[in-house]
Amino acid sequence: MANSTSSTSSSVQRTLILVKPDGVRRGLVGEVISRVERKGYKVSALRMLQADRITLAAHYAEHEGKPFYEPLVEFMLSGPIVAMIAEGERVIEGFRSLAGTTDPTTAAPGSIRGDLARDQGTKVVQNIVHGSDSPESAEREIKIFFPNL
Ligand code: RTP
Ligand code: MG
Repeated sequence: MANSTSSTSSSVQRTLILVKPDGVRRGLVGEVISRVERKGYKVSALRMLQADRITLAAHYAEHEGKPFYEPLVEFMLSGPIVAMIAEGERVIEGFRSLAGTTDPTTAAPGSIRGDLARDQGTKVVQNIVHGSDSPESAEREIKIFFPNL
């Protein structure tokens, strides 16, 4: 029994989702959660917080030194964010698909970024959500925002 259970749940993943300050300011927290839930994923942890530089330096370590890094950190410091863990089979790629591509101007209609965001002429693109891009990133990022989980 234990074996058959584990073999059928081998693709269950966790991903870290952030509603960025633009999403919180615009009152889109419920919309994001709703899309995640309607897709069938389970939100297993949720918190609102004001990020600090140390947290963001850890989270965005891969982007350090890129031209958009400082504007990105300033933007992420500009207001509260909501962090959540979503769970389900292939949720990492599933949420990336729900989110749409990075540039909201061309993100597919039907996606969160495609439906709800656009270029605002800001130094860094504001695109409502973050989603982990691999199982390794997901576990690393979950530890940053949910150290006990
Ligand atoms: P995320 O990490 O937030 O889910 O977004 P992503 O994978 O689609 O994009 P990534 O390349 O990881 O970039 C992280 C965030 O940095 C901002 N960015 N701006 N050229 C630019 O202006 C630029 N490139 C990236 C975006 O806010 C992006 O989501
Ligand atoms: Mg990314």
